[in-house]
Amino acid sequence: MSTVSFSGLDLLATAAVALDDGLRIIYLNPAGETLFALSRRSVSGQSFPELFADGQPFGEKLSQALADTRGFVDQDLILTRAAHEPLHLNCVVTPVEVGAAALLIEFRHIEQQLRIERETQRLTQHEANRELIRNLVHEIKNPLGGIRGSAQLLERELDRPDLREYTQVIIKEADRLQVLMDRLLTPHRRPHIGPVNIHEVCERVRTLILAEFPEGIRIKRDYDTSLPDLRGDREQLIQAVLNVARNAAQAMSGHGEIELRTRVARQVTLAKTRHKLALELQVVDNGPGIPAAIHDRIFYPLVSGREGGTGLGLTLAQTFVQHHHGVIEVESQPGRTCFRIMLPLDE
Ligand SMILES: Nc1ncnc2c1ncn2[C@@H]1O[C@H](COP(=O)(O)OP(=O)(O)OP(=O)(O)O)[C@@H](O)[C@H]1O
Ligand SMILES: [Mg+2]
Repeated sequence: MSTVSFSGLDLLATAAVALDDGLRIIYLNPAGETLFALSRRSVSGQSFPELFADGQPFGEKLSQALADTRGFVDQDLILTRAAHEPLHLNCVVTPVEVGAAALLIEFRHIEQQLRIERETQRLTQHEANRELIRNLVHEIKNPLGGIRGSAQLLERELDRPDLREYTQVIIKEADRLQVLMDRLLTPHRRPHIGPVNIHEVCERVRTLILAEFPEGIRIKRDYDTSLPDLRGDREQLIQAVLNVARNAAQAMSGHGEIELRTRVARQVTLAKTRHKLALELQVVDNGPGIPAAIHDRIFYPLVSGREGGTGLGLTLAQTFVQHHHGVIEVESQPGRTCFRIMLPLDE
């Protein structure tokens, strides 16, 4: 035992262990005793890799280092002692020739913070994926319901019963698609980027809302026609504005007024980026306002204050606006709810 040669490492804050050419422990410093919850005396002469349930791959790398007399660094090492939490480590392995010692290894515990950060990152990624899934399902569910419903109506009007075979095919296939949706096999649509006139978007939304709520909803327009086109995905923007306007119409139970208003905005910061020029689109309604209980969460998926609502409309709208590097905000009180969509106009 050449413990004496390593006594200088006793004061080191970094865990250090010296192994002989059979990977047996010759020396373990106090920081190492603490890190691995081992006493030097009890492990002296024992195989280091064998102390860990998952030590074998590391042992192989150590043997290789010995054979090549070449050190290595492992930034992402996990070692687990039986009945202990896994240790997440950073290590530096150096071949030495000090008495019987052949390898010197220093270990640093990767800060717990770092681990938490990685986990949080994974979780965020996971959340993002799930959101994507929900948005997609939401997008497909609506037309699918329409297809199925229309086929049913058509079937009732058919005077030749043999034609029912076809409507049944439509209905059954729509049902099958609905089931498939849950398993999500369809890839996300790629954006189609091109010049978009915001007033065309507004007009399209107006037409759709008036068709959906033919009685009782009035739509006022206040457009700044000097606004230039923006670059973006027209369909996504229509969907975003439609989701907001449809919520307004639904909140007013189909009776009330919606105003679509556009303005130029200069020198604004959107999503942490400063823009010289942006456009502001307001969708204002004179309905009851957003229920206080959900006001702070309405952009989150599955938050709904509406009977039969899935709570995805605004999540989707926000996602689409963010794709355009814009922001969507809301101000609401009984009698006046204003959704404001800001979109950058400069590159
Ligand atoms: N203009 C508005 N006035 C009052 N409440 C609103 C308004 N817009 C949204 N809300 C509230 O915010 C909730 C969330 O809206 P969101 O569009 O995300 O989901 P949803 O309309 O419930 O369901 P989905 O759009 O997925 O069919 C609504 O259920 C409603 O309670
Ligand atoms: Mg909605």
